[in-house]
Amino acid sequence: SDKYAVFGNPIKQSKSPVIHAAFAEQCAQDMQYRAVRVELDAFERSVRNFFEGGGAGLNITVPFKQQAFALADECSQRAQRAGAVNTLYLTDEGQLYGDNTDGVGLVRDMVANLGWTLQGQRILVLGAGGAVRGVLEPLLREKPRSLTIVNRTAEKARELVAEFAELGAIDGGGYELLADRQFDLVVNATSASLSGEMPDLPGSLLTARSCCYDMVYGAEPTVFMRWAALNTAWAVADGLGMLVEQAAESFYRWRRVRPATGPVINQLRQALA
Ligand code: ATR
Repeated sequence: SDKYAVFGNPIKQSKSPVIHAAFAEQCAQDMQYRAVRVELDAFERSVRNFFEGGGAGLNITVPFKQQAFALADECSQRAQRAGAVNTLYLTDEGQLYGDNTDGVGLVRDMVANLGWTLQGQRILVLGAGGAVRGVLEPLLREKPRSLTIVNRTAEKARELVAEFAELGAIDGGGYELLADRQFDLVVNATSASLSGEMPDLPGSLLTARSCCYDMVYGAEPTVFMRWAALNTAWAVADGLGMLVEQAAESFYRWRRVRPATGPVINQLRQALA
């Protein structure tokens, strides 16, 4: 059977083996998928060993996505823009190909699973780290009316704005930009909620129709999700669907078969409770 794995550090928490096992079973694919904790100084060597040993494909997670981008011989346009790769495989010519499926995973969860509209909407993204860089191009491809990035370190938001300006109407800076502005969709991509914190946001940000999405997930709603509910957002979601959708896109790249994600999202949701 074909060998796949996810490389990261730490890796214990990874749900990718469970997700890909579910996809493989559903699509009757003869494959195995393992989680591997790679030492911080051993990434390149481990990737090369994996493919030289007949490995078929890799997912790459924290903290190696930028290194994976640097290592790939060829990259998708969206990975190029992100400067980060979460999916690796060999082309028919034996080249190491890198893709980034995070952004498409986010968009698909919002549009296909949650039924949210992005086209023509005013989008706000909180944060300007690696997670944001990975999703900007797929978000802009949906043709929002505007996309605003705010970050604690305003300069990082401004850098992203400059880098992605040619792809659409994008602006950004510090949180003070948010006074007197409203958004149809707010995406939390800060790591703040992992530590139970959240950026200080004016409640006036939301309309009665606003949707709020936290890119992280857990058994309980995050602080950002609770803030959204308190401020009467129309809809609130966490990042579990994004996780499964980015995995589905990687699976599709490798196997040329598209798994149904709904049952797998439900399965993971139940396991969280
Ligand atoms: P990731 O890969 O998850 O994006 P990262 O690159 O370390 O991780 O980025 C973390 C993001 O969360 C950054 O935008 C960070 O803001 P700074 O650039 O100012 O550091 C943001 N962040 C982390 N903790 C935060 C907090 N308590 N309040 C607001 N933003 C926070």
